[in-house]
Amino acid sequence: MRTGPTSSDPTRDRRRELVRTLVEGGWLRSAAWREAFETVPRHLFVPRAFAFTPDRGAHQAIGADDPRWLDLAYADEPITTQLDSDGTRWGHTRAHGPVTGTVTSSSSQPSLMAGMLESLDVAGGQHVLELGTGTGYNTALLCHRLGAGLVTSIEYDAVVAEHARRVLHDHGLRPHLAVGDGTHGVPDRAPFDRVIATYGVTAVPSEWVAQTRPGGIIVASLNDGLGAGLMVRLVVDDHGHAHGRLTADDAHFMPTRTEVPLPVDVLLRAAATSPDGHRRNVRRTGSVPDPAPGWAVLAGLRHPGITRVTLHRDSGTVQWLLHSDGSWAYRDPATEQVEQAGPQRLWDLIEDAHDEWVAAGSPHRTRLGISVTPDRHRVWLDDPGGPHTWHRSTT
Ligand SMILES: C[S@@+](CC[C@H](N)C(=O)[O-])C[C@H]1O[C@@H](n2cnc3c(N)ncnc32)[C@H](O)[C@@H]1O
Repeated sequence: MRTGPTSSDPTRDRRRELVRTLVEGGWLRSAAWREAFETVPRHLFVPRAFAFTPDRGAHQAIGADDPRWLDLAYADEPITTQLDSDGTRWGHTRAHGPVTGTVTSSSSQPSLMAGMLESLDVAGGQHVLELGTGTGYNTALLCHRLGAGLVTSIEYDAVVAEHARRVLHDHGLRPHLAVGDGTHGVPDRAPFDRVIATYGVTAVPSEWVAQTRPGGIIVASLNDGLGAGLMVRLVVDDHGHAHGRLTADDAHFMPTRTEVPLPVDVLLRAAATSPDGHRRNVRRTGSVPDPAPGWAVLAGLRHPGITRVTLHRDSGTVQWLLHSDGSWAYRDPATEQVEQAGPQRLWDLIEDAHDEWVAAGSPHRTRLGISVTPDRHRVWLDDPGGPHTWHRSTT
């Protein structure tokens, strides 16, 4: 195994420390994944990183010569490696100072990765598809665990993919690396025993299910505008359908590049062109707090197209719910009234989900699941065939 450190490797203690954190947090549970995280050198996959400086609200370029680089590489934190899909941004930032921008590629948070890899429940000899190669670090962990010949990974961004390929090759790792839209999977390498998605999707693509063997497992995160961070573990049945529950993780992933969320100002402009709203008193939920409580998990699971925007004003917390179809809802903190308009009554949808969650006994998120068939997603409580099932909208 060529990813192994030498006895004089000064970063080995940092990896051990990181592994200790992941084990203590309950994220890493198996000896095989512990060994992989202890061996694969994360720092080599993030030679050009960005560190966010909250006071300036900007990203600073960090390179291998920066004294903070190894701290960054071995913290249990995600590491931004690309902004605004622009491969030249790091060099520019390095030369001219911190910049703002949208994160378009990163090395995911190690605890989240560890939790996903454990959920994947891989065994030797199984063929894995990773969606979103990114830096290649997770790909390297999979190669270490299974052997590169059993690992396929696809990345949308050709510059990001080329960087990952180079680092992996430098370590003697030659998994099958594809460049393109992972929505369609990698059909010429199918079937897979395991599929792991490291970017968020609104709907699990039917191709991922079709390319997974019966009994195979798909671990993916679902986009959720209410802020709950939904991770699902699906098992594919003999009919080519997939069913599974949410994991306990509050997992926030960047969305697929094919479904870039509309900026809030665009949503607000769409709302401004809608007719005047209907006013009524708030029924149950005063607001949708952050972090999202249990009922908002059900609401976000059922209505992924609703975006929550919270603005802090002297008069209190103003909350908007927005949808790309122009629907909007606004909660006035002074009067506790809700105003809403557009094709969908968003506050009604959210309050209905709240009532359904209470009526179902206020279940923990791990009792909620989804079923994926080629034409729709269904949400359920405890059992796909049980009494509590709901439609999941995919817009
Ligand atoms: C969180 S990062 C990946 C983390 C990665 N597994 C690692 O260890 O570094 C998500 C990656 O998914 C890629 N991505 C987003 N949408 C995609 C799509 N539709 N198809 C393939 N890759 C996509 C992004 O370009 C980004 O590099």
